[in-house]
Amino acid sequence: MNQFPNTFTWGTATSAYQIEGGWNLNGKGPSIWDAFCQIPGKIAKNETGQVACNHLEHFKEDILLMKQMGLDAYRFSISWPRIQPKGYGKKNKAGIQFYSELIDCLLEHDIEPWVTLYHWDLPLALQLEKDGWIGDEISDYFTQYADICFEHFGDRVKHWITINEPWVVAMLGYGQGVFAPGRSSNSEPYKAGHELIKAHAKTVQLYRTKYQKEQGGIIGISNNCDWREPLTNSPEDRASAQRALEFFLGWFADPIYLGDYPEIMKKKVGDRLPSFSEEEKSMIKGSSDFFGLNHYTTMYAADASSKQVKTSVYGNGGLSEDQQVSLSTDPSWKQTSMNWSIVPWGCRKLLEWIDQRYGHPEIIITENGCAFDDQIIDGHIQDNQRQEFYQSYLEESLKAINNGVKLKGYFAWSFMDNFEWASGYEKRFGLHYVDFETLERTPKLSALWFRDFLSGQKK
Ligand code: GAL
Repeated sequence: MNQFPNTFTWGTATSAYQIEGGWNLNGKGPSIWDAFCQIPGKIAKNETGQVACNHLEHFKEDILLMKQMGLDAYRFSISWPRIQPKGYGKKNKAGIQFYSELIDCLLEHDIEPWVTLYHWDLPLALQLEKDGWIGDEISDYFTQYADICFEHFGDRVKHWITINEPWVVAMLGYGQGVFAPGRSSNSEPYKAGHELIKAHAKTVQLYRTKYQKEQGGIIGISNNCDWREPLTNSPEDRASAQRALEFFLGWFADPIYLGDYPEIMKKKVGDRLPSFSEEEKSMIKGSSDFFGLNHYTTMYAADASSKQVKTSVYGNGGLSEDQQVSLSTDPSWKQTSMNWSIVPWGCRKLLEWIDQRYGHPEIIITENGCAFDDQIIDGHIQDNQRQEFYQSYLEESLKAINNGVKLKGYFAWSFMDNFEWASGYEKRFGLHYVDFETLERTPKLSALWFRDFLSGQKK
């Protein structure tokens, strides 16, 4: 593969609930995921993140493995209830100390911390007492929590991500009910999305007015989006693919880059889509120093204006009945163990779509990766399919750069196998294999490939 620019940032990503464990240790309060995992049938095999990879105690070993891969950066998330057990009020010293030590250890190894403030583990008290993300005060609670993080870690953290994948929080948490807090509704996702955008923008405003000048960091949001390819070249299918992208990524990125929700969403969702005041619009517009993108797969989009479309659990781009798009895959596409199709060119097309629609922003791929049932042969974890996945997605990313897209960094999901939400521990996304009995970590072949690839890039 040709060279990426030498200023390119290379990293891997994780999130707190998926790896940390220590769910009730050292003063941490319960989160909505701690509670959700207790409901029988919600998680494959009724597993939980109570122990996960026990990164809480193994973080030094994990950082050494990152160092061995030659990574520049590590993206992790802070567990809000570890910092503030109830989500408001008193802060927890032991939680602050843990992240402080993690950050110091990364910096000692020349690895830049990229910190996500919210990767889905809302303090349970905020759900029970304040209605979680559909409560009217949630954006203020979030900003107060973020303030604590900037105050304690901002001297050393120069890259902040406010919220990971608001689409997932809204759609899977409040629309389909398959993720915490497990609610099903066709209006709550839009209210939750609205509050998530406000929480993001208020936090960015706080960082910019109170910290950015002195601390000198940058701040943004990570949105997820699949690519939507028109099923046929008909004007209807092309419009459907565009509509699907606007319902998926435009829902969150349009307010931030263009100042309001996409027109098509306002038209199709009607009263269920809340509206921003003029003051909110101007606070939200421009509230991201970079465009964080999490990308995993591609589907075909066809027009379904005249049909009743049912919402499906995964791989959908919004409430299907609102979008009026029917989605499908090509039987010739290979799939990962999540049944997500492997379509590297979809990644390039999505990067180019973002570049055009949002005025050529600096983009960081904050997640890209795949789950496979890795084979252990002679003690080695064989994951050639994962290596091929990374190679092909990186090739297409490089093509996007050569076509003028300002892609500045890439974080592989994930550093190690972990608690994959509703799929429990069955789905393995890691570059490192984790034996969940002994908690031993072993680099997979893909991690070794990545290490060699990076050393080639750095010559
Ligand atoms: C993303 C999420 C990660 C991880 C990944 C693979 O949506 O941010 O936490 O689970 O998907 O499913």
